[in-house]
Amino acid sequence: MRLPTLLLPLVALFSSSTAQAQVSPYTDTRTGISFQGISGSNGYRLGLVLPPANTTSSDVLVQLVGQGKGWAGVSLGGSMLNHLLVAAWPNGQNVMGSLRFTANYGSPPVAPATTPARSLLPILNGTYVNSTHFSYTFLCKSCLTTDGKTFAPGVTSAPIGWAQAASAPVQVTNAATALGRHNVQGLVRDVDLSVARKGEFAKWAGYASATVRVGRRWDA
Ligand code: HEM
Ligand SMILES: *[C@@H]1O[C@H](CO)[C@@H](O)[C@H](O)[C@H]1NC(C)=O
Ligand SMILES: *[C@@H]1O[C@H](CO)[C@@H](O)[C@H](O)[C@H]1NC(C)=O
Ligand SMILES: *[C@@H]1O[C@H](CO)[C@@H](O)[C@H](O)[C@H]1NC(C)=O
Repeated sequence: MRLPTLLLPLVALFSSSTAQAQVSPYTDTRTGISFQGISGSNGYRLGLVLPPANTTSSDVLVQLVGQGKGWAGVSLGGSMLNHLLVAAWPNGQNVMGSLRFTANYGSPPVAPATTPARSLLPILNGTYVNSTHFSYTFLCKSCLTTDGKTFAPGVTSAPIGWAQAASAPVQVTNAATALGRHNVQGLVRDVDLSVARKGEFAKWAGYASATVRVGRRWDA
C-alpha cells in the first residue's frame, strides 16, 4: 500500500473541519438588538454590532450562541493566532466568557491586561442557557485596537474567525480554564461591517452591566 492512501483517512479523522458560514443580519428577539450575523454549523451563531461610522469607539457588542455543553468562540482579528479571541461556554445555568490570546496553536491563555482594560460586560436578557443552546450577549469594552489584534475601530469590512467545540472546557467554573480544540471552525474573509453599524449602539450598549457578573447564577 502506498503511503498517501494510508495517511489520508488519518488526516480526515484527526483534523477539525473548516465549515462554510452564512453572513446575514438578524434581530435577536430576547434583547431586541439587530446584529450583523455569522451562522456556522452545529447551532453556532455570532452577532456583531458597532457604533455609527462617525465614532472612534473601541467597543463592540457581540452575541455568541453555541450548542450543548461545548464552547463557542470568535476571533476578532480573523485567524486564530495573534488575534483577540473570546470564548464562551455554559456553566450550569450561567454562561462564562473569557478573553484569550495566543501565538501558538493549542489552548489559548487568558489575554494579557491592556490599558485601557478590556472587559466583557454581559447583557442579562441575552445571556442564558436552555435545553439545547447557550447565548452570551455582551459588550466587549475597549476591545478594538489598531495594532492588528482585532479589526480596527471604524472599518467597513473585516475578516472574522469562528470556532466551536462539542466538548466542555476542562473546568467550566474557571474563566481561565484550558479549552479543548474546536471540532468546527471557519474564517470569513470579508464580513461587511457597515451593516453592523447602528445608531442604537449606545442604547444597546447601555443594557450591558458590570454588575451582571459572568458566573453569577440566574434563571434564563
Ligand atoms: C476562542 C477560541 C478559538 C478560536 C476563535 C479559534 C479559531 C480558529 C480558526 C479561525 C482557525 C483557522 C484559521 C487559523 O489557522 O488561524 C483555527 C485553527 C486552529 N486552532 Fe483554533 N481557535 C480557538 C481555540 C483553539 C483551541 C482551544 C485549540 C486547541 C486546544 C485550537 C487549535 C487550533 C489548531 C491546531 C488550528 C490549526 C489547524 C486547524 O485549522 O484545525 N484552537 N482556530
Ligand atoms: C432587554 O433588556 C433591556 C435592559 O436591560 C431592555 O431595555 C430591553 O427592552 C430588553 N429587551 C426586550 C426585547 O425585552
Ligand atoms: C435555545 O436558544 C437558542 C439561541 O437563542 C435557540 O436557537 C433555541 O431555539 C433555543 N432552544 C429552545 C429549546 O428553546
Ligand atoms: C453620528 O451618527 C449618528 C447615527 O447616524 C447620529 O445620530 C449622530 O448625530 C452623528 N454624530 C455626529 C457627530 O455626526
